[in-house]
Amino acid sequence: MFQDITSSELQHARYSMDRFMLCYKFATDEVLTKIRILQEEFNMLYSYNPIEHINSRVKTLESLMKKVKRRNIPFQLDAIRSEIRDIAGVRITCSFISNVYELSIMLQNQQDIVVLDYKDYISHPKANGYRSLHLILEIPVFLSDRVERVPVEVQIRTIAMDFWASLEHKIYYKYKKEIPDNMLRELKEAATISTLLDEKMEELNKKVNTIKRFENHNVHSEQEFEPLHFYENFISESKKVIQMKG
Ligand code: GTP
Ligand code: MG
Repeated sequence: MFQDITSSELQHARYSMDRFMLCYKFATDEVLTKIRILQEEFNMLYSYNPIEHINSRVKTLESLMKKVKRRNIPFQLDAIRSEIRDIAGVRITCSFISNVYELSIMLQNQQDIVVLDYKDYISHPKANGYRSLHLILEIPVFLSDRVERVPVEVQIRTIAMDFWASLEHKIYYKYKKEIPDNMLRELKEAATISTLLDEKMEELNKKVNTIKRFENHNVHSEQEFEPLHFYENFISESKKVIQMKG
């Protein structure tokens, strides 16, 4: 079969594939920039960082081809482009559940983004206990001669959700997808505990924020520097000195 392919055909196929994959790298970079902007702005406005860490990956050619085969998708770029929407993936790990939704709304509201899919496994966890917010966002990538609209899978979750998912993933592969029943039950239990932890942390954080707001309010009323007030005092004090001299 390989004898039928000329070396220039092979070269062309490789070139097309490289260009195809590169778009997913560009789209990932764009999403990462968007997230970092939100993170920095949050830091500046509220002296607060809602993101613990950000990970990203573009599927390897090998893993992409395995998925194409598994899903019986024709080996054509157009078909792969429309059928497989997790070639580019970004995972955002947040401190609190509220941060997950805040970030998701900020991303969804950006005008150049089209939301292709939204799955809320936080309010509706999977049967095994998996929780996360999944978005498929379509990002425009401006190339030298055209604009490509590229899907990126964005998973947003808390530290507790991430902790659980990493372990579950490890167990899933260790047991080659045949997890024993007792292990499944314990994983589910761990998922319930992680939900309780997230809820407790959210509640505590709300309390801390209320106290912080109250303290800031008091500190401001004592120490706030008001330029106009300062100049008023300065002028009236100066006038007094002039009057005394006169
Ligand atoms: P694919 O299986 O990726 O084709 O997509 P899908 O249509 O089933 O999408 P879904 O949004 O349910 O899951 C996409 C991704 O979320 C997976 O590739 C994992 O990274 C993650 N994920 C989904 N379910 C689980 C789970 O039960 N455990 C863990 N650890 N990760 C999960
Ligand atoms: Mg996937």
